[in-house]
Amino acid sequence: MKTLDDLGDLRGQRVLVRVDFNVPLDGATITDDTRIRAALPTIKQLQQAGARVILMSHLGRPKGEVKPEFSLAPVAARLNELVDADVKLAPAVVGDEVKALVDGLGDGEVLLLENVRFEPGETTNDPELAQQLADLADVYVNDAFGAAHRAHASTEGVAHLVDRTAAGLLLQKEVETLEAILADPKRPLVAIVGGSKVSDKIGVLDRFLDIADHVIIGGAMLFPFFKAQGHSVGSSLCEEAGVPLAQKALDKGGDKLVLATDLSLGKGFAADTETQIVDGVDVPEGWMGLDVGPKSAERAAELIKAAGSVVWNGPMGAFELPPFAAGTKTVAEACAETDAITVIGGGDSVAAVVQFGLADRMTHVSTGGGASLELMEGKVLPGVEVLR
Ligand code: 3PG
Repeated sequence: MKTLDDLGDLRGQRVLVRVDFNVPLDGATITDDTRIRAALPTIKQLQQAGARVILMSHLGRPKGEVKPEFSLAPVAARLNELVDADVKLAPAVVGDEVKALVDGLGDGEVLLLENVRFEPGETTNDPELAQQLADLADVYVNDAFGAAHRAHASTEGVAHLVDRTAAGLLLQKEVETLEAILADPKRPLVAIVGGSKVSDKIGVLDRFLDIADHVIIGGAMLFPFFKAQGHSVGSSLCEEAGVPLAQKALDKGGDKLVLATDLSLGKGFAADTETQIVDGVDVPEGWMGLDVGPKSAERAAELIKAAGSVVWNGPMGAFELPPFAAGTKTVAEACAETDAITVIGGGDSVAAVVQFGLADRMTHVSTGGGASLELMEGKVLPGVEVLR
């Protein structure tokens, strides 16, 4: 993969940087700016090299229409607090006004284009849009790991049309860290695969059954496993289509698979519901399994503490409800305490380690949900492939 070091002298060069500023918003307030902060090292390095930095990102899914609620204005405001430059927000993605703003950039200055998904050609990887983007720049850098699994105009098409291209520091770190732990892990490799549906995680589960030493299952995706084994699941969330997939994983995984042996139950999916712990995995009628029990969490913690490498994707239970956070918290704490390399891949498990204040005690916390899942499954990421 080509990196920033391969780009040569950047003074006065227009560098178009794809970032993933798809941050969660509450109205115009950014509720988690991790993805913005994660892009700062690349932005700063380019500024220091004297580049004229043009940032572009998507935000949400506006489906090719200009919708004010998907404007990157809140992101531009946050960038102005974090970046040592007056970051302007362009009124559009491409066009004459944008071109004029780019032409007016000085060395080390930064411009943010509007949401690339305001353009209908973005998600269809339209060559014309890709060319218009390429015309803005001398150099293209992709630092949007979270969007690297999308073959869109700003993540893939444009990279074919600019001579000098490279991965940014974030994308480089994400890909190198995840690929290293998959290709040559320090053993034992413990994978923790949680979440609500087996069908969402079957690709990654299958891969880890091949390469990991232990595969711990958590979350509601346990119930298709228990159903396949003939246990009662009560009113637990149990994906029917997941039952045959779970059976296949049981057949393939044997002793590698670590299923829960006790459960934390609730009458309903609510923080103030009646609760009980059961020793065993049969869920009585009228109850639902909302977390693994203390024995199962402890078993997972023991494996994590004895591991050489840990990859975690998906929570152990409904950690967003305080009575059912214990299993996920025990796993997060074990990941914080272990001497193993710990990689937290995507989505809800990242939200969990952030909620418990443990994110900075992990070796690597990925900024990509779908992207890290696809990379772990062994799929080719189009946004990465085009930079090789
Ligand atoms: C994400 O949030 O996972 C990325 O920004 C990709 O967003 P998308 O799923 O809308 O393509």
